[in-house]
Amino acid sequence: MILDTHTVRAYTLPTTIKHGLGALKHLADEVKALGIQRPLLVTDKGLVQAGLVDEALSVLRKGGVDVVVFDKVMPNPSIALVDEGVAFYREAGCDGLIGFGGGSSLDTAKAIGVVAVHGGSIRDYEWADPNPITKRIPPLIAVPTTAGTGSEVTLWAVITDPDRKVKFNVGGTSLIGAHVALIDPLLTLDLPAAITAATGMDALAHAIECYTMAYAQAFTDAVALLAMEYIGQYLRIAYAQGHNVEARYKMCMAAMLGGLAYGTESAGAAHAMSQTAGGVRDVPHGALTARLLGPVMEYNYMAEPQRFARIAQALGEDIRGLSVWQAAEKAVEAVYRLTEDLEIPTLQELGFREEDIPLLAELAVKDPQTIGNPRDVDYDGYVRIYRRAFEVGRRQQGKDGS
Ligand SMILES: [Fe+2]
Repeated sequence: MILDTHTVRAYTLPTTIKHGLGALKHLADEVKALGIQRPLLVTDKGLVQAGLVDEALSVLRKGGVDVVVFDKVMPNPSIALVDEGVAFYREAGCDGLIGFGGGSSLDTAKAIGVVAVHGGSIRDYEWADPNPITKRIPPLIAVPTTAGTGSEVTLWAVITDPDRKVKFNVGGTSLIGAHVALIDPLLTLDLPAAITAATGMDALAHAIECYTMAYAQAFTDAVALLAMEYIGQYLRIAYAQGHNVEARYKMCMAAMLGGLAYGTESAGAAHAMSQTAGGVRDVPHGALTARLLGPVMEYNYMAEPQRFARIAQALGEDIRGLSVWQAAEKAVEAVYRLTEDLEIPTLQELGFREEDIPLLAELAVKDPQTIGNPRDVDYDGYVRIYRRAFEVGRRQQGKDGS
């Protein structure tokens, strides 16, 4: 698919972005400014145990906000979870939402919002043309506690259908976007290194895939490139030094910018693969996407060499004196190196087997994100990319002596 510059495109952002150290203290004010009387705070039990939910609740209670908590979110949220959340939202008489957590909590909050205004089940709102979403969700404040998905500013929610063994996309319209993204890097200081690594690589995948996809436009290019620059500079530092506030702040900004790079479009082959493979095996989205990003870039770079050369530069590679082709290859190498440095688990370590390749390739080809990929990709192309990802994993195991 060649970069399409002839189609009229739009960029709509329905979200006010409020960010900075201590931004969480503004939560109650934002709830009141949106006119919410009784918000449902959508989160997970890990954040309750870590004490972060209490921090949010104390800000809300001090501000006189009557809040209800739904803390049943699990990674890779399912249709049943969203539908349960909607029932809870209705029974508790809520009139607005606070998504508090990683991408799973934010996506669940968006999805609850979609069903709350339209009725039915979230399975009825899978992205399609025409889009089944026709109404604005109730007021939603998205408070991310990881620096990865950028879901606080994206127009998507990713939901798992265990029956079909796929993750499907809901959104692609500004009707689903959060009203406010409240980004407080202090909430990410205690993230374990492995989560910092995986979520940061997910943000990088958003930036790279959106920068090279067929729907790229000037606005998304600009935010994607800055996201890559921040990630190139700060992800290793955030991984190695969790309490480095500057690195955490820049990674939060990178995740947000990577989310903005989507616009109303979706990503490319790495996400087509990770979302479908993530439906087959319940593994962390960031780690899985990271392990596919290098092999996908290796497959793609020859379609858009100039753009890949620019990615190398944004990631901090010295491309002076190199041809465009050499510089483009540097982008691929830089991502492979970053994946190794951050000790992202291999596909094998994530539990996938090479015998799964035909099934995984078949599912990826059906994912709508295949269409946006910069290089034409079919079943055979996906088989090739998966083989390469497993080969990298085998080599890694050899190196580790395992
Ligand atoms: Fe992602």
